[in-house]
Order: sequence, then structure tokens, then C-alpha cells
Amino acid sequence: MSNLLGELLDHGALEALLFSVLLLGGLSILYYTVRTGVPPMPSHPSARRAAFRLIPDRFSPAAIYELGCGWGGIAFALAARYPQARVVAIELSPLPWLVCHIRRLFQRRPNLEIRRADFLKSDLSDADLVFCYLMVAPMRGLERKLTGDLRPGALVITSTFALPGWTADGAETVPESMNAQIYRYRVSG
Ligand SMILES: C[S@@+](CC[C@H](N)C(=O)[O-])C[C@H]1O[C@@H](n2cnc3c(N)ncnc32)[C@H](O)[C@@H]1O
Repeated sequence: MSNLLGELLDHGALEALLFSVLLLGGLSILYYTVRTGVPPMPSHPSARRAAFRLIPDRFSPAAIYELGCGWGGIAFALAARYPQARVVAIELSPLPWLVCHIRRLFQRRPNLEIRRADFLKSDLSDADLVFCYLMVAPMRGLERKLTGDLRPGALVITSTFALPGWTADGAETVPESMNAQIYRYRVSG
């Protein structure tokens, strides 16, 4: 085994392989960033804490969706905080999605489902709680999707970017994350 590794190193094959993997990973991230209009930028830990503070203590969701879960930071935290809930983490970009699966080998979360899909084409109708951190451009399309899918009483938390036509019933500013706003919406009946 070490001989084979030595041979590969001698001929530069390992470097070439590593370089190709990194290049493909980078190109994949770039492609999906352009396609969705959203880079896989993780939430600041303070933004995550603020989002969690906006969820009422007595709220006991059965189904939680994280739309665009990236590398999984929020999805894993939601699954740990609500062990009784089914947490569905949706991500279109293959590399972050793969990292979430690898992460689950080390951070066991039996109630977490990691899906590779476009959340705009996913059924969100059983959601009690929806979380997302996206960009300005996709918020109007998301708003239409949530208006069509969600039941009265469902909570939506959006980080940094508001749903343009909805009125938030709670918000928090996160000074550690360039004064980002975290918004909470409740679907009315
Ligand atoms: C800014 S990252 C946020 C990651 C994570 N939610 C967090 O807060 O740490 C947004 C993610 O949404 C994903 N995304 C954007 N549009 C999507 C879509 N229509 N369907 C699925 N994932 C999408 C992007 O690929 C990106 O990884």
C-alpha cells in the first residue's frame, strides 16, 4: 500500500488527482451559485442564535424545513434542538449536500433528512417551521411558494433578507454579523 502511494507520489499522480478534485469542487460551487443566485455561505453563529431566540419556547413543531441548508450548521442544530420533529434539510448544490451527509457520520441526527433538491419544486405543505438564509433575488419567488404551500400557524424565519410582501411579527438585529436582521413571520389563517 505504502509502495503504491510512493509510486503515485513519484509520478505526480496524487497531486494531479487532488488538484482535479479541488478544481471540480470549486467549479461545482461556482456553477450552483450562479444557477441559484446564492453562494453556500454559512450563517454567522450569532445569527443562528438570534434565529433560535425568535422561535417561541412553547412552539413544538412536528416538521421543520431548512431551505438551502448549505454545509448543515443550522439543520444539525435544529435537529438537536427539536429531537421530536422531522427536520428536512434541502440543498441543491452537490458539494455542500455531500458534506452534510459526511457530517452525519460523525454527528448522528436520526430525525434529520438531507435532500438534494430545489426547494422551489419541493412540497412544503406539512411544514410547521421554515428557516432560510438566501439572497435578495430569490425572496419573491420563495414568498409565492410559501404563500401557496404553508398552513395557517406555520412560522417562517428568514435571515438577513426579508420576504418583501409579508409583514414580520418579530425581528432581531445581529451586531456581530454586520447588523443583519433576522425576521419571523407567522402564516395567518
Ligand atoms: C447562504 S447559504 C445558507 C446555508 C445555511 N442555511 C446556513 O444558514 O448556514 C444558502 C444555500 O441555499 C442553497 N440554495 C439556493 N437556492 C436553492 C434552491 N432553490 N434549492 C435548494 N437549495 C438552494 C445554496 O446552494 C446555498 O448553499
